[in-house]
Amino acid sequence: MVITMPRGTQDILPEESKKWQYIEEKLRKISDNFCYEEIRTPMFESTELFSRGVGDTTDIVQKEMYTFLDKGNRSITLRPEGTAGVVRSYIENKLFAKTIQPQKLYYIGPMFRYERKQKGRYRQFVQYGVEVIGEESPKIDAEVISLAYNIYKMFGIENIKVSINSLGNPEERKAYNEALIKHFEPRIHEFDEDCNNRLYKNPMRILDCKVDAEHELIKTAPKLLEYLGEESKKYFAQVLKHLDALGVKYEIDHSLVRGLDYYTHTAFEIMIDNPKVELKTLCGGGRYNGLVKLLDGPEDKKGIGFALSIERLLLALESENIELPIEDTIDVFVVAMGEKAADVSVKLTNELRIAGYKAQNDYFDKKMKVQMKIASRYKARVSIIIGESELQNNEFVVKNMSNSEQKNIKSTEIVEYLKRELRGEK
Ligand code: HAM
Repeated sequence: MVITMPRGTQDILPEESKKWQYIEEKLRKISDNFCYEEIRTPMFESTELFSRGVGDTTDIVQKEMYTFLDKGNRSITLRPEGTAGVVRSYIENKLFAKTIQPQKLYYIGPMFRYERKQKGRYRQFVQYGVEVIGEESPKIDAEVISLAYNIYKMFGIENIKVSINSLGNPEERKAYNEALIKHFEPRIHEFDEDCNNRLYKNPMRILDCKVDAEHELIKTAPKLLEYLGEESKKYFAQVLKHLDALGVKYEIDHSLVRGLDYYTHTAFEIMIDNPKVELKTLCGGGRYNGLVKLLDGPEDKKGIGFALSIERLLLALESENIELPIEDTIDVFVVAMGEKAADVSVKLTNELRIAGYKAQNDYFDKKMKVQMKIASRYKARVSIIIGESELQNNEFVVKNMSNSEQKNIKSTEIVEYLKRELRGEK
C-alpha cells in the first residue's frame, strides 16, 4: 500500500514553497525593521514546560499535545506553541542580564497540535511569532499589536479586524471568575460537556465556547472590564491611546479570553472579515506578566507577544485574491549545438551560476528547437546559443527571450554583458 502523509500535515511542493520563502523573507525583514532578533528553540521540550506554562486546564495541554517517552524515559512533547520555549530559553540563557532590554525576539518554525483537521487547521503548522520580554510598557503592547497589524497590511490584506481586551491581573480575574461561576452555575446544564468541565476550573473559557456561542448567558455574562482595578484600566487605556496614534484600528471585545492560561492584561486577536474563510482568527497574542516567574525565572520580568500561522496567512491571501509577486523566471538558459559546444555550455553555465546568475543548460544534447522550448519553459530571460561557428570565433549569440533580439557577444565579455542586460548595471 502506498504510504501517505499523516493526517493534518501537508507537503509544500516547489511552486507553493516559493510563496513560503517570499512570506518568510518579508516576515524576517519587517521583524528586523522593528528591531526584533531571531531565536531558534528546540521543536521538542520537556512536557512539564507546557503543562506548567500553557496551563493544565487548556485544550492544548488536555487534548492536543504530541507527548511521548523518549528512550531515557523522559516525557517529551513536540512544541504546540512557541512562547513557553522562548521564555524557558530566556531564563536558561539569562537573557535578562543582556544590556539591551527588553529582549525583542521572533521565531518562525513548526508547531504541533493534535487537532481536528479543518481548512486552516493542521496538526503541523508553522508559526511566526514575537516575544518582548523584560520590561513592561503600554508602548510595547501597542508596538507588538501594530507589528501584527502591519504584517497583514504589508501583504495587502485590508479586510482585517483587531479585537482587543484586558484580562487584568490574577487577583482581578479571581473576583471575575467567581462572578462568572455565579452567573453560569444555575444553568450550566444547558451547555456542552467542555463548558461543564470548565465551570470551576476555568470559567472564563466558557465565554469562548465554540458550541454554544449564541447562548443568552454568554451575551449577558458580567464583563471583565468591570472587575479591573484602576491601575489595569489605566494601563489598558494607554495601550489604546498608543494604538490610536499608530493608526491601528481595533474593537474592544469583552468576551475575548484566549485559549492559553498565561495571559494577563492586554490580549488580542486579528480576524479576517471574509465570509469565504472558515477559521477567521489569523493571529493571537497578549501579555503574560506571570510566566517568567511561573517558570522559575526572575519575578519582575514581564512579557508580551503574538503568533500567527503562515498556513492561515496563505488562506487569507487566497480568499482576498492577492497574488504574491513571485519570481519564477531564470536568468539564462544555455543552448548548445554539437558535442564540443555542449561541453562548453556545461562550463559556461557553471561560471554564470558562480557569478550570481540563475542559469541552466540542456543535459541531453537535444535539438536546438527543443532546447529553445525548454528555455521558454524555464522562463529564461535570455538564452545563450553556442554553435560550431560561435566556438571558432570565441563568441556566443545572446537572445533576449522577450523581444527575440539577438546579439553576438565575445565569450570573455559575457558576464559584463549580462550585468548590463539583466541587472541594468553600467
Ligand atoms: P494561539 O492563539 O494558540 O496562540 O495560536 C496563534 C495562531 O496560530 C492562531 O491565531 C492561528 O493563526 C495559528 N494556529 C493555531 N493553531 C493552528 C493550527 N492547528 N493550524 C494552523 N494554524 C494554527 C499561541 O500560540 C501563543 N503562543 C501566541 C502568543 C505568543 N502569545 C504571546 N506570545
